Amino acid sequence: MSESLEPMLDLARRALANAHAPYSRFRVGASLRTAGGRLYAGCNVENAAYPVGQCAEATAIGAMVAAGDREITDVVVLTERAEPCSPCGRCRQQLAEFAGPGARIHLCGPEGVRLTTTLGELLPMGFGPASLGL
Ligand code: THU
Repeated sequence: MSESLEPMLDLARRALANAHAPYSRFRVGASLRTAGGRLYAGCNVENAAYPVGQCAEATAIGAMVAAGDREITDVVVLTERAEPCSPCGRCRQQLAEFAGPGARIHLCGPEGVRLTTTLGELLPMGFGPASLGL
């Protein structure tokens, strides 16, 4: 059984509180756990030039890479909305760079996990390093 998700939820809640989402008002917090057990968090960072905005997952991935980590085992995506927020297509691809198909993706609300799926379910037949022959 996997480790407790509480520390990941806590990080994601705190990141969400710092989200910069004045345009959509759709605040997102994300956190990642790596194979070594380290945790990283991020929030969405919107921009007045709308397409320039960044998703919470991408912010968390950037923090992880900057710290020297590369292997994601668990992802928490947390919103305040009634419906679970599933990672967008771009985020799925970005996660696939650092996570295998078995990586767990936990869709969460402030109260906790609402649904757990895997990256393989969210991104079947994804394009990856193997597609480049690497
Ligand atoms: N958003 C995320 O941060 N992650 C997702 O997986 C879906 C969408 C953000 C982007 C934008 O700031 C806001 O949610 C509304 O789309």
